[in-house]
Amino acid sequence: MRLSGIVSFLLSLLIGVCLATAQKERCYDTAGNFTTNSTYGRNRDQILASFPANVSANGGFFTATLGQDSDKVYALGLCGGDSSSDICYSCINSSVHKLIATCPNQKEGLSWGSNPPCIVRYADRLIFGVLELEPTDAGYNTGDVPLANLTQFDLDWESLMDRVVKKASMGSSTLKYATGEADATTFLKIYALMQCTPDLSQEKCDSCLRQSVSYYEGCCHGKQGGYVQKPNCLFRWDLYPFYVSNASTSATAPSLSPPLSPASLSSTNKTITRGDGGISSQTLAAIVVPIVVVFVSVAIIAVALLLKRKKTRQLDVNGKLFLDFNLFVVDFKIS
Ligand SMILES: *[C@@H]1O[C@H](CO)[C@@H](O)[C@H](O)[C@H]1NC(C)=O
Ligand SMILES: *[C@@H]1O[C@H](CO)[C@@H](O)[C@H](O)[C@H]1NC(C)=O
Ligand SMILES: *[C@@H]1O[C@H](CO)[C@@H](O)[C@H](O)[C@H]1NC(C)=O
Ligand SMILES: *[C@@H]1O[C@H](CO)[C@@H](O)[C@H](O)[C@H]1NC(C)=O
Ligand SMILES: *[C@@H]1O[C@H](CO)[C@@H](O)[C@H](O)[C@H]1NC(C)=O
Ligand SMILES: *[C@@H]1O[C@H](CO)[C@@H](O)[C@H](O)[C@H]1NC(C)=O
Ligand SMILES: *[C@@H]1O[C@H](CO)[C@@H](O)[C@H](O)[C@H]1NC(C)=O
Repeated sequence: MRLSGIVSFLLSLLIGVCLATAQKERCYDTAGNFTTNSTYGRNRDQILASFPANVSANGGFFTATLGQDSDKVYALGLCGGDSSSDICYSCINSSVHKLIATCPNQKEGLSWGSNPPCIVRYADRLIFGVLELEPTDAGYNTGDVPLANLTQFDLDWESLMDRVVKKASMGSSTLKYATGEADATTFLKIYALMQCTPDLSQEKCDSCLRQSVSYYEGCCHGKQGGYVQKPNCLFRWDLYPFYVSNASTSATAPSLSPPLSPASLSSTNKTITRGDGGISSQTLAAIVVPIVVVFVSVAIIAVALLLKRKKTRQLDVNGKLFLDFNLFVVDFKIS
């Protein structure tokens, strides 16, 4: 890799680390609207109000119904498979509030929470076990994979995605989640995360994830990271480890302890006791990773600038173009 390539890669990585995927809500009036004080509306608000506690207390996946006949509300909540119960709680809480604000009277709604992701859906029809492929939300890191020849990278990438799709869809009826890593070059590692709502069968989960992967290849091939989310599944990949590997307080084991409020979190001892009281490893990573990346980037840039002075004018111009481009781009989203 050329020096300017390394510098631009580190900068994009820095931007990637600092950006979260944004909150997204979708509302549907295909089955009509409800009026503010209707039974349907009250059922929806009541069921969603209980969701932050119920989803996080049930290992990150929860379904519920409330009401009768045309007033019956079906709701589903999913947290990222690497989310501790406190992170799950706050992601669902934030999604529920935004969903109610964005969909004041639509009979159906969907919210994708952010970083790590979660899903909240409600409808006036059965949505459990049903594969829905639309709508799709996708985005990518604006930096390119820092390799001149992508032939081998693409093969490694596809083989990793195939592996993670299989592993995730073979999960249980309470968790369909998998992460995976592959070495592309000595310098580059590919990280992937996939998750389905576990009410889906293995076949439906497999199909949801494969369509997400091909959607990504269609929109964003060559970019150095991205995500695709659908009502039933989540997919993200990047060139840095953006997930918590194998957290013990994820959806694998239902947590009995109540979710921590931000206040109690900051007053606990700063030890890494995954999920039962201490600062979570996610929180720690969120603090440490950007700091490390900033230091490494600054050091590399400093070295790069020093070296550049000694190099030819042409390299200087190239390097500058790279820097300018990468400093001012932000995570571009497509829908
Ligand atoms: C439902 O309400 C929204 C406004 O909240 C309105 O734009 C839409 O046309 C309504 N749809 C139906 C089917 O009444
Ligand atoms: C909803 O009900 C409350 C009290 O039950 C009432 O004060 C309010 O005016 C009603 N709103 C609408 C839009 O009907
Ligand atoms: C959610 O949990 C509460 C207790 O926090 C419980 O009373 C309620 O029945 C649960 N909601 C559903 C829909 O199961
Ligand atoms: C839930 O979210 C709302 C709106 O974002 C916020 O005001 C509230 O404090 C949150 N509740 C908890 C317990 O975090
Ligand atoms: C890229 O690398 C592959 C082998 O890994 C090689 O077959 C191919 O010719 C290369 N393409 C270019 C444009 O250099
Ligand atoms: C997670 O870690 C435990 C040991 O800490 C191990 O037994 C288990 O297989 C791991 N699970 C996954 C999915 O890697
Ligand atoms: C946390 O700190 C308190 C004293 O400040 C100590 O008594 C307690 O044992 C510590 N807990 C852990 C888990 O280290």
